[in-house]
Amino acid sequence: MNTRFTFCMIKPDAFKNDTVSDILLEILKAGFKIRGIKITMLTKAKAEEFYDIHKGKEFFDRLTTFMSSGPVMAMVLEKPDAVESLRKLIGKTNPAEAEEGTIRNRFGTDTTHNTVHAADSYEHAEREWSFFFSKREIY
Ligand code: PPS
Repeated sequence: MNTRFTFCMIKPDAFKNDTVSDILLEILKAGFKIRGIKITMLTKAKAEEFYDIHKGKEFFDRLTTFMSSGPVMAMVLEKPDAVESLRKLIGKTNPAEAEEGTIRNRFGTDTTHNTVHAADSYEHAEREWSFFFSKREIY
């Protein structure tokens, strides 16, 4: 298991609110290196596949409808202890509960429109970046 890499995705609300560059800057200022990056659109089916771990939860349809409503920016990021470091930087799921200064606290609106997804484990990170990137697209 390589603890230097994680997966991050900037969500459609950040594109709508024009905060993508602010969020990217926060990530870079925190010392992450970008090793893979792309802007793409998820179909509803692809969003359901990506979030299949949450299938059956009451928010599943809301989450996958939102995630397929606009562009996303998928990234492979590198930094020591990458998963923990990125989770700390983005803050709790609900922006109102996220610590002051975290990305979700600064740019998020609610538990759906919370601007950023970050992998919660190294195992999930690898599965998630493989969902978006081929090996040749990560350096
Ligand atoms: S859980 O059940 O504790 O694993 O859920 P959590 O980690 O808090 O959230 C998982 C992802 O689901 C999104 N979410 C929601 N979307 C819509 N409505 C509601 N109520 C809701 N609650 C949670 C949340 O933003 C997480 O998305 P990601 O992309 O993983 O950050």
